[in-house]
Amino acid sequence: MKSVDQFPHHLLSIDDLGSDGIAEVLRVTDSFVEVGHRANPKVPALRGRTVATLFFEDSTRTRVSFETAAKRLSADVLSFAVGSSSVRKGESLRDTVETIEAMGIDAIIIRHPSSGTPTQVAGWITNSSVINAGDGWHEHPTQALLDLYTVRQALGGGDEGMDRFKSLQVVIVGDIRHSRVARSQVAAYAALGAAVTLVAPPTLLPPSIDGWPIAAVSHDIDKELPSADVVSLLRLQSERGSGEFVPSLREYTTRFGLTGRRAAMLKPETLILHPGPMVRGVEIASEVADLPAAHITGQVSNGVAVRMAVLFLILGQSPAEGSSDV
Ligand code: CP
Repeated sequence: MKSVDQFPHHLLSIDDLGSDGIAEVLRVTDSFVEVGHRANPKVPALRGRTVATLFFEDSTRTRVSFETAAKRLSADVLSFAVGSSSVRKGESLRDTVETIEAMGIDAIIIRHPSSGTPTQVAGWITNSSVINAGDGWHEHPTQALLDLYTVRQALGGGDEGMDRFKSLQVVIVGDIRHSRVARSQVAAYAALGAAVTLVAPPTLLPPSIDGWPIAAVSHDIDKELPSADVVSLLRLQSERGSGEFVPSLREYTTRFGLTGRRAAMLKPETLILHPGPMVRGVEIASEVADLPAAHITGQVSNGVAVRMAVLFLILGQSPAEGSSDV
């Protein structure tokens, strides 16, 4: 297993981690889940460090989760507000991030509507680490990591939970075409040996899935549900034009929505996941989202601990004066 010393300087995609890096994140997350249960869920691990969140796209979960994670590690957090920044005066992205780095920021957590922006930013800056919080259709690595952690936890945790991935049947349903979450999930589940089936109408699949490490593609959700161990749903990405790829929301729900009838086809132990934000009544029926099998709130809770682990592993490599201990 990779040690902390070998952890990458940036987290731009799941491929930066590989199976050993993923296992390391999940292992370290266990410690931070325990911290989260303490009366004072804060540790001095990143005291003296500063992280900045630069979100050029809307977010509820990811921004708050990263900022909570950084604060629980005692880092200082700078929340960059694009709408009131000099970006509105025409400043380029390069000048913006170089300005922020010049202030002595240790990590830049960036979300951007253009695929590849975090990689571009990582090439411009000198010292800061860059963490991809979602870029266009490309990747959302920490979302996939928190999904894996939630599955591992439900399967018994620790080594036992890790071993179960090798025999896991994962079904990802929805707007695969526009989904950065799906791309990170496929890479992450495949790295741990799970078999992934993509379920979507042909129009919501990527133009090419050559090279994707998947077991199958299906257009028939009813056929895939009975054997699934994990059903991971995706929202239609209307901000990326997905509405033009389905005749109507009603037809999409009829053919691909996880309705109450379809949830009854699942094995009792099947896990239902959704990265959020979910649109109740479209990709998931409201009553299904509230079933005990739905781990959607658990995903959000685990997201804080997973992001604490990522920040700790990236920034804890050369500790600031004072502390590096959990
Ligand atoms: N899952 C996710 O990325 O949610 P937000 O868009 O709210 O950050």
